[in-house]
Parts: sequence; C-alpha cells; structure tokens
Amino acid sequence: MNHSKTEVILALDVENRAEADTILDQVGSQLRWVKIGLQSYLRDGPGIIDRCVQKEINVFLDLKLHDIPNTMSKAIESLSVLPIKMLTLHTCAGPEALTLCAETAKNRMPETTLLGVTVLTSMNQENLHSVGVSSMVEEQVNRLACLAESSGIGGVVCSPLELPVLRESLGPDIQLVTPGIRPTGSAKGDQKRIMTPKNAKNAGANYLVIGRPILSASDPAEALAAIQLELK
Ligand code: C5P
Repeated sequence: MNHSKTEVILALDVENRAEADTILDQVGSQLRWVKIGLQSYLRDGPGIIDRCVQKEINVFLDLKLHDIPNTMSKAIESLSVLPIKMLTLHTCAGPEALTLCAETAKNRMPETTLLGVTVLTSMNQENLHSVGVSSMVEEQVNRLACLAESSGIGGVVCSPLELPVLRESLGPDIQLVTPGIRPTGSAKGDQKRIMTPKNAKNAGANYLVIGRPILSASDPAEALAAIQLELK
C-alpha cells in the first residue's frame, strides 16, 4: 500500500532544554511533528510543548501510560490541558482501560489521537516468556494491535517490519507510527530491525519517528529535507 501522506516525526531525544531549542531553530519551518518522551517531558515540563506549538509544530507526547483503567483515564484528563496531537499508552493495560481511555480522550481531547504500544522492541521471545506470555512476539503484537483497534484507539506504534502484517489485519483508518527508520547510508545505532523511509511508507506507515539520523547530522535541516524528498 502506498500512502499518499507519510509524515516525519522528529524524536526530540536531547540532553537538555537548550539543545532542544537549538535543534528546533536549526530544522526550521519544514518540521511539522516532534515526539517528546519521558526524558524530556519529566525534565522540561509543559514548557517544551508550548515552545513547539509556538513554532507551529505538532506534538506527540510519548508517555506510554499503563495503570488501572480509572488512573489512566484520570491521567488523560490531566493531560487534556496540553496542546498535544498524539499520546501513547500500553495496550497490555487491557480492553477495559483502553475503551475507557478512548472515551475519555474523545470527550476531553478530541484533537488527540491515542496510540497503542504493543510489545516493546526491547522484549524478545525469551523476555516475553519470562513475564508469562507464551505467544510468539509477532502474534502478541498483532493481538494487542487488534485489541487497541476494537477498543477505539486511533493508532498503533510498531516496528517497520510489523507494518505489512498490521496493515493487513487492521482497518485503513488506523494510524501506524513507526520508529526504527534509517535513511540509506546513515548509522544504525542500536536499532536492529530497520527500514528506509521510502520502504516504510510503501509498507503502510502514516508517520515515521526519526531521531539520530537528523539529530546527529552535521546539518539537521539538510538531513530532514533529504528524508522528506525521499517520501515525496
Ligand atoms: O534515534 P532513533 O531514530 O533511533 O529514535 C527513535 C525513537 O523512537 C526514540 O525516541 C526511541 O525511543 C523510539 N522508539 C524506538 N523503538 C520503539 C519505540 C520507540 O526506537 N519500539
């Protein structure tokens, strides 16, 4: 499937707020999305989100919520004051939590898409068995992604190699957001299951989360422009 629109989300994984401001200035107006994770949000607070919004950049807040249904729902209510467009939660919180969160988000933050995290890519088959899950990793990813969809969650975060299977088993409206993207010629770093931007787009990704290939480039603006050109 060739998606007409696949957007780049810059993973703003930096050591301090000053570095975040510098990179935002460097990449300029061509950047439409950033992902702010636990490291930045817990350190910099909502100020970093406001800064992005001032620059007309959409914010994906990657907090990976996981708790009992009521607590997750209340967390979403607390976050509803923030101008965020995407928010992650763990799908293994179960159907009751996911359904309640989807309803809360629909009422309290209708502009925000909830994204389900399935099996963390740091978990292999052995790790999964050690926490009592006997399914194969791929089977568990698919099960949790389908659960997210049937509970009203708008998207799923997945590795690029999972894109074809999830595109097949999920409806066309589900947003697939994938990290593990490496433009040809850039360093893999610790990512193992990688794909180029173009291949990920062709496999059905709606959004590509990219960090180090842009952050570590000698010219981050040029690196982002090259990726966007590849996606056209
Ligand atoms: O620097 P890099 O392009 O590898 O950054 C990818 C981003 O996506 C990081 O913020 C990383 O934590 C995140 N991520 C990932 N793999 C997952 C889920 C999130 O690389 N399975």
